[in-house]
Amino acid sequence: MDKFLIKGDLAWSGCDRVIVSRKDAYILVEDGLVSGVFDRRPEGEYEFYDYGGHLVVPGMTDLHLHAPQYQFAGLYMDEELLQWLEKHTFPIEAEYRDVEYAEKAYGIFTEDLKNSCTTRAVVFATVHRDSTLLLMDMMEASGLISYVGKVNMDRNCPDSLREKTDESIRETLAYIDESRRFSRTKPIITPRFIPSCTDGLMEVLGRIAYEGNIPVQSHLDENLGEIGWVSELCPWSRNYADAYDRFGMMGRVKTVMAHVVWPSEEEIVLLRRPGVFVAHSPSSNINLASGIAPVRRFIDEGIGCGLATDVAGGSSLSMFRMITDAIQASKLRWRLVDDKLGALGFDEAFYLATRGGGSFFGKVGAFEPGFEADILVLDESGARSVLRERMDVRDRLEFYAYRLADERPLAKFVRGERII
Ligand code: GUN
Ligand code: FE
Repeated sequence: MDKFLIKGDLAWSGCDRVIVSRKDAYILVEDGLVSGVFDRRPEGEYEFYDYGGHLVVPGMTDLHLHAPQYQFAGLYMDEELLQWLEKHTFPIEAEYRDVEYAEKAYGIFTEDLKNSCTTRAVVFATVHRDSTLLLMDMMEASGLISYVGKVNMDRNCPDSLREKTDESIRETLAYIDESRRFSRTKPIITPRFIPSCTDGLMEVLGRIAYEGNIPVQSHLDENLGEIGWVSELCPWSRNYADAYDRFGMMGRVKTVMAHVVWPSEEEIVLLRRPGVFVAHSPSSNINLASGIAPVRRFIDEGIGCGLATDVAGGSSLSMFRMITDAIQASKLRWRLVDDKLGALGFDEAFYLATRGGGSFFGKVGAFEPGFEADILVLDESGARSVLRERMDVRDRLEFYAYRLADERPLAKFVRGERII
């Protein structure tokens, strides 16, 4: 039996979204699951990792990012969504037709993601089956746990990316079939967004998702121009979320919708369904001038919610950066847009990055018995302060988030397996 004990200064988010901390405490892991947290070293036979004096926190879930776009993360930030897609994103994604190019680019992506604080991710690839499967191979080898989607697009994109409807369906079925060989890396149905997919394609994708119980990911209510376009493309729909719902893509299977910056009251009702998650992407929403999502509302309504980098809308893979960006964006929203929705506190944003997004994967993102053991050991030495001695464990975590967001963790375990 695989059993180990970790000692450190532990912090995780309780189910009330308040940070729980235990100094000089122990986590016992058995067969990939947390079996207990102790203040004294428990008796028994196990491997022992002594990280005494170091912060130990749950791994983080990036609920939405685009692997092919990592190569231009930090470039082309002067456009809004639809122009950015046309001018920069689509031409670069078309290059992943070339598997050799994909191998180089995805090699950089998976290595950097492995070295980040992310332990779980929900990923868009491109329309290309071969390079998507190659990315899945690399993600599998990295030890990270992920969903990786072969993207579907059969309208409103350059010829170099556009699939024929029947081809898109055939390639999706083949990708699902071939991805059975992976254990940590799962397929996810990935219509890019309503503007990229005809009703006929959406209908079949919804059926494939339902019949195979495969989750769905897409984009919702990101940008005002996009939302207007969807209402022209789907005159039969009541709103953007309803257009997805028509095809069984609002909770009939587990669903993650990126952004949701501009939800209407009617859409909030659909988002409240069990199995629907919002991937809040504050950096991306700022870079593409999309707006600021009402995250406080999602939390108060009990809507499933986590944080996401949305690389390359977001320029960084750092989930600690997403925590501080989410807090900062929420403060501007409260001050400038709607003072009835209070800003996020650090505890809540930490919750979203760990337990909130983690719940898309099951019992993930906390140090409680039965949770999968995704564990980060953090190196705080890069930020010095004479106040360090006065900081409690929670203070140290906040200080780390603002000052050391891009550091590589000292150690990283995913479902009990050490990968750093
Ligand atoms: N909507 C459709 N495609 C994309 C994409 O690649 N990035 C973002 N941020 N929004 C999208
Ligand atoms: Fe996105």
